[in-house]
Amino acid sequence: MNANNSLLDDSLLANGTNLEGLLPSPRVIGTVKGPGETGNQYVFITADNRSVKIGEFVFYAVVAPGQETALQILGKISARCLIDHLPDRIFADTEISPETIAALVGFTYNNPEIYEITVDVVGYFDLNLGFMNPRRTPNPGAKVYLADDAMLRRVLNKKQPGEVGAAHIGSLLLRESDVPVALDVKELVSTHMAILAGTGSGKSYTAGVLIEELLLPHNRAAVLIFDPHGEYHTLAEMRGHAAFQGSDGYAPKVKILTPEDIRIRVSSLDYYDILTLLPDMSDRQQSILNKAYRLLQRHKQGEYRWGIQDLIAAVREADMQVDEEGNEKSGSSAPALEWKLERLERSQYFHTFEHTVAPRDLFEPGQVTVLQMNEISQEEQQVICAAVLRQANQARMNTHRNLVKPEDENFLPYPVFIIVEEAHRFAPANEPSRCKAVLRTILSEGRKFGLGMGLITQRPGKIDSDVLSQCMSQFIMRIVNPVDQESLKYGVEAAGRDLLKELPALTKGQIIVAGACVNTPVLCKVRQRLTKHGGETLNAPEMWQQHFQAHHARDRQIQQAPVAGRSRSQTVRGVSIE
Ligand SMILES: Nc1ncnc2c1ncn2[C@@H]1O[C@H](COP(=O)(O)OP(=O)(O)O)[C@@H](O)[C@H]1O
Ligand SMILES: [Mg+2]
Repeated sequence: MNANNSLLDDSLLANGTNLEGLLPSPRVIGTVKGPGETGNQYVFITADNRSVKIGEFVFYAVVAPGQETALQILGKISARCLIDHLPDRIFADTEISPETIAALVGFTYNNPEIYEITVDVVGYFDLNLGFMNPRRTPNPGAKVYLADDAMLRRVLNKKQPGEVGAAHIGSLLLRESDVPVALDVKELVSTHMAILAGTGSGKSYTAGVLIEELLLPHNRAAVLIFDPHGEYHTLAEMRGHAAFQGSDGYAPKVKILTPEDIRIRVSSLDYYDILTLLPDMSDRQQSILNKAYRLLQRHKQGEYRWGIQDLIAAVREADMQVDEEGNEKSGSSAPALEWKLERLERSQYFHTFEHTVAPRDLFEPGQVTVLQMNEISQEEQQVICAAVLRQANQARMNTHRNLVKPEDENFLPYPVFIIVEEAHRFAPANEPSRCKAVLRTILSEGRKFGLGMGLITQRPGKIDSDVLSQCMSQFIMRIVNPVDQESLKYGVEAAGRDLLKELPALTKGQIIVAGACVNTPVLCKVRQRLTKHGGETLNAPEMWQQHFQAHHARDRQIQQAPVAGRSRSQTVRGVSIE
């Protein structure tokens, strides 16, 4: 269908047109009063206060010339204002009900409150093009209909639940009946996404639902999660879970790498990674390390199996000084630097040969890999994350360009999706971080190579704005912090901004989904997890109670135990005489 403007000639707007028979079961909820403040808004008047919630979908109809069917121009309620009601005086009397007084004075309307509702036009839905905005508001007098469930099911989702490439994460919040919200996985995993919400609002729970969807038989994605709190191991329940079994024998793999399993080959670190891992480096030490690192790169060109000892040898070489007589003597900085490097060599995570986080180990379609990083220091987490992301990015690029052979650990012939929890730590605004550069690269170029990122943070105001602005799908939950609320305004497309007013009022599991993965921003309630959530909020009062119950039980046991031969110790002036 073409966005032909003649279709939308003013004279053909539904004003006065008989739509009976053209529309399936429209329920009229109000009448258009006129245009709104912006060119894309209109206002209508209604007495039906129950159907007109912010975020609810309504439409008006337009009949195209010579056509039997009406175009339904969908819009979303963005504001509502009470413009007429019973006189205030009636409400001042707490003894007699307002209705009784109203009846006494001869006021007999059932719904005396009148609302003016502002609607943002979304457009009419075209199967191929998505929503087309007619850029023309309805005439005064046009009827406004409540969009029915079937219509919303059809037009809100790019994919229907269960289809290949659909992630059914929940249902429309404002509808009692189940209107599914199914996201477009293709957009989600290639143009990146962000989950933004205050702590305890359900970010990790929602990420869990999304991962489940990605690993169901109709998606079979290759997913990696950086899990700094150890919350995602419960995904292992997917292994034997009936819902995840494919008719062809498919079952998702869940690979959990605990901190003990993580080994990074030192040669996969760059100079700045190593610098981050070494404590309190003086300027002189930094400059020697830098020189040593470059020497090593030259000596070991193309060779990726060098270790800390090789770097130490290079440090000695870099610190050599030549005295006035032309004799070489070692400088004074090398020993302290050597000591620091030796300490790094004893680290649990960095090794000369062992490497457990190569792309080949982490990624496979139908597999989710959980990289548990609890117990690992912030600096080490930064470096591990940077090294893994860098290698994965290189692997995707080089495989794409046919530069790696199938037996290579860097052979990565399929798109992958990587989720980073606590993303503000890995890409902080106005602060250096090991991961920021590689995250920026992946976010700006990853789409071309099929490397998608999902960033999760409770501090959207603290995350690098370049990084956040590259996430084309946003999942936003309850946020009360005004700084963080403000930072969202720029990230969310215009059609979703009015929904942001709802943020402080959202409760657990209620979410605004906006961006590339949906046809228009929606308010949604997240479905129940199929696997257990590993990050339950601790119930402190209950645990304190249990502590006492345990003690009471023990005390009772002791009291009820048969009295032993001698019950009291013998003391004389406080000194034991036994
Ligand atoms: N959609 C949901 N349905 C049911 N419980 C939820 C939902 N979302 C979150 N919760 C519960 O809320 C608590 C906090 O959720 P969590 O995802 O761990 O928060 P966050 O990661 O944002 O700090 C958990 O106990 C979780 O079980
Ligand atoms: Mg969490």
